[in-house]
Amino acid sequence: MNTRRFTSRRTAAGGFAAVGAALALLVSGCGSLTTSGEDAERETHSVEEGFHVGLLLPDLHTARYEAFDRPFFEEELAELCPECELSYANADGSVDEQQTQAQAMLTDGVDVLVLDAVDASASAGTVNEARSQGVPVLAYDRLAEGGVDMYVSFDNHRVGQVQAESLIAAMEEAGTAGDGKIVMMNGSPTDPNAASFKGGAHEIFEGQVDIGQEFDTPDWSPEEANAQMEGAITALGVDEIVGVYAANDGVASGVISALRSAGVAVDELPPVTGQDAELAGIQRIIAGEQYMTVYKAIRPEAQVAAAMAVALATGQEPELGEYQLSEIEDAAGETVQAVLLEPIAVTAENVGDTVVSDGIYSIEEICTDDYADTEFCQEAL
Ligand code: GAL
Repeated sequence: MNTRRFTSRRTAAGGFAAVGAALALLVSGCGSLTTSGEDAERETHSVEEGFHVGLLLPDLHTARYEAFDRPFFEEELAELCPECELSYANADGSVDEQQTQAQAMLTDGVDVLVLDAVDASASAGTVNEARSQGVPVLAYDRLAEGGVDMYVSFDNHRVGQVQAESLIAAMEEAGTAGDGKIVMMNGSPTDPNAASFKGGAHEIFEGQVDIGQEFDTPDWSPEEANAQMEGAITALGVDEIVGVYAANDGVASGVISALRSAGVAVDELPPVTGQDAELAGIQRIIAGEQYMTVYKAIRPEAQVAAAMAVALATGQEPELGEYQLSEIEDAAGETVQAVLLEPIAVTAENVGDTVVSDGIYSIEEICTDDYADTEFCQEAL
């Protein structure tokens, strides 16, 4: 098997100064650190000499991975470890593909794996394989099973609560709260985050709203969400639906096009939630098609991940700046050191104060011709 088919390699070297946090991570040479159980002895590496990092991301349906996670991680790793080499792969929603990609990276001799698992429980095999080869694993965004070394994500239970609280607020504002039913369109059943979003949302909805239909969305696919929403419209009747909990912006896009195809005018759409602050999601929000999204600041998530990857490879404590390590439990009840970041709700009211002021999107990127007439763009341009 040719590893290059699955990974694009680049050396992170060039132009970047190893300053600040990176200096604290410098170690003078290679040593070794013995871990418990059947794990192989781990070699420790140095920032001065560099080492090889493998980054595995899960899907292409969701814009964040190629647009933000990958470049932000790459940038920060180059900053912290100019001599490091990075291999990258995106599994495009396939469990088998991700296993193949991870195996290829291990065969290629990566020194640390940063894994955003397509399927958390299936990834236990990859995690075990890495450990048996003495390669530490950092769970990125989704908590892979099998005993990872560290984890960085958002407070995913809170994401679901924020989505549900916003949906209730929108229905109250529209005066439709008690009038009909909501549809819940959750995320992928193999993604542990989707279960946390769903759990957080259910906690808020309990006793507050009537859930008419509820689905998981295989592979977070907008097309699946669209088909499932068509089914919900047929089963409930479009006029009965007073709100839709959509777990992310891709799912929201499928939901909204099903509602539009059923003849619902833009200004008659029920409030629909989302997540990821995708550009298309932000544009639907300013156009009044989607009610909200959850903005998760991916730059700090990727920066923390790069600092953790460097720490795991060098056998040092991670330098996290303003972020604190906490302890969480994985699916097997093992303690994992983690950083969990805070999600933020974005509606038409605060697009400017969130994704624009954080430099995620410029006004020009948001206000393309199709959106130039929106109130947001009229005021901003
Ligand atoms: C989740 C992630 C979300 C979204 C989704 C689909 O695990 O936290 O931000 O991207 O997967 O990829």
